Parts: sequence; C-alpha cells; structure tokens
Amino acid sequence: MATVTRKSHAQLVKMRRAGQITALALQAVAQAIHAGVSTAELDRIAEKTIRGLGAVPSFKGYHGYPASICASINDEIVHGIPSRRQLREGDIVSIDAGAIWRGYQGDSAITVAVDQVEPRVQALIQATQDGLHAGIAAVRVGATLGDVSHAIQAVADAAGFGVVREYGGHGIGAAMHEPPRIPNWGAPGRGLVLETGMTLAIEPMYTMRGYETRVLSDDWTVVTADGSWAAHWEHTVAVTETGAEILTLVPDGAGAEVVEVQDEN
Ligand code: MF3
Ligand code: CO
Repeated sequence: MATVTRKSHAQLVKMRRAGQITALALQAVAQAIHAGVSTAELDRIAEKTIRGLGAVPSFKGYHGYPASICASINDEIVHGIPSRRQLREGDIVSIDAGAIWRGYQGDSAITVAVDQVEPRVQALIQATQDGLHAGIAAVRVGATLGDVSHAIQAVADAAGFGVVREYGGHGIGAAMHEPPRIPNWGAPGRGLVLETGMTLAIEPMYTMRGYETRVLSDDWTVVTADGSWAAHWEHTVAVTETGAEILTLVPDGAGAEVVEVQDEN
C-alpha cells in the first residue's frame, strides 16, 4: 500500500477549517432543500458559501467535473451532476461537497429527504448515517481499516440494506483522494493499522437492495443497477490519541467564523 501520510498539528488546523467550511456549505444547501428547488440552485448556494469563506470548491474541475457539489437523487448513488432538475416531494437527495482552504481539503456528504418520504426510505437514510458513525467509532490508534469497513458493513447487514462495493472512502489531505482506500465492507483485523495524524474520508453508500452499480452516459452519475434507491453520508476525520476527531463539523459560533476567515484572506 502506498504511504499513508500523517498530518502535523499545523496541517490539521488547515484541514479543520477546510472541513468546517465544507460543513457550512452543506448546512446552507440542506436549508434550501424543498420541493421545486433545482440541484443547480443548490450548487450555486454551495459554491457561494465556500468562496465566501475564502475557500475553493474542490470538485470543480476535478477530472473535468463541472460543479461544486454532487447531487444524487433517488437511485443515483454518487456523482450526480447538478442540473435544472427540480426536487419533488418524496425524493431523497445526497449532497456531496468539498472545499480547499490554504491547500488542505474537507470532504463531506449528507442525504436529505424532500418533505415526506416512505418509512423504509427514511430508514435507509438513517441506517447509512448510523453506518458512518459506526465506522467513525471504530477509528482509534491500533485499530485496522478492516475494523472500520466491517463496522460500516455490519450496520447495513443488520438493517437489511445493500452496501455499494465499487466506491468507498479514502485518505485525504492536500489531495482529495490519498491512500488508503476504505471499503465499506470487509473483515475486521485486516489492513492498515491506524496511527495518529492520519486523515480519512469515511463514506458509506447503502442501497435498498443490490450493491451493483452502473454509470450513466454523462460519464459521472453512478446509479444502482437494480434501480433501488441509495443514501450516502460522509465525514472527514483525523485519527487522534483518543479516537477520531470529525473535521467536517459546523463550528461553534459560525457567524464569527465567517468574518474571521474573510479577514485572514
Ligand atoms: N467527494 C467525492 C468522493 O469522496 C468526490 C466527488 S468527485 C468530483 O470521492 F469529481 F465530483 F469531485
Ligand atoms: Co470522499
């Protein structure tokens, strides 16, 4: 396995800020989600928030990707391109966003129900978020990546949902995607042993049924092969002496944060 870097305190400060900005962008998008809003409008909100906080949207231009967020609706799992398509009551939408602040990256995703959705669909969203937190809870010095993968898979298995196998989490730092790969399924005790300063993007993707995927003709949008709906949650975390620190959280006193970041630029 290629070298997994361990970040210094100064690097973690930058990643924390990049993560906070990512979280603030997702918060702004979540507040705008309702029936009738287009995913292009959500993209504009995210980009404005990220740039307004002195950061750069990491997705824009990444391998030619045209937007600042991915917005993946219903059977779309990840990498949905924002468009004029409007959300409708009963839809679910996964929003993935990333920001670069002073050279360091944050990456996070949420899945949101548009008004009322079917109970089993709501359960899918909840289970996937629970899977993310189970994965994060497995992060500690001396644990293995397999422990994290297995914890995520176990939540899906217990709830009767499928786990996407072809996409997963990743190391993150100055680049959005660094080693290691973090599958959302696997056996405990296997793989890389975690050390302090490693920074990981953990991102379960669960489906209502099967785990097979295909990519649409736009060359980006990943959908379930069986048409079942999918949810996606992601946080960027750092391995610490006491476990994991989630870096992609909305900061306390977010208003003050905004002014401070703008002044620094
Ligand atoms: N956030 C996604 C991930 O975790 C990447 C989005 S792909 C992009 O892998 F091209 F849209 F940036
Ligand atoms: Co990611």
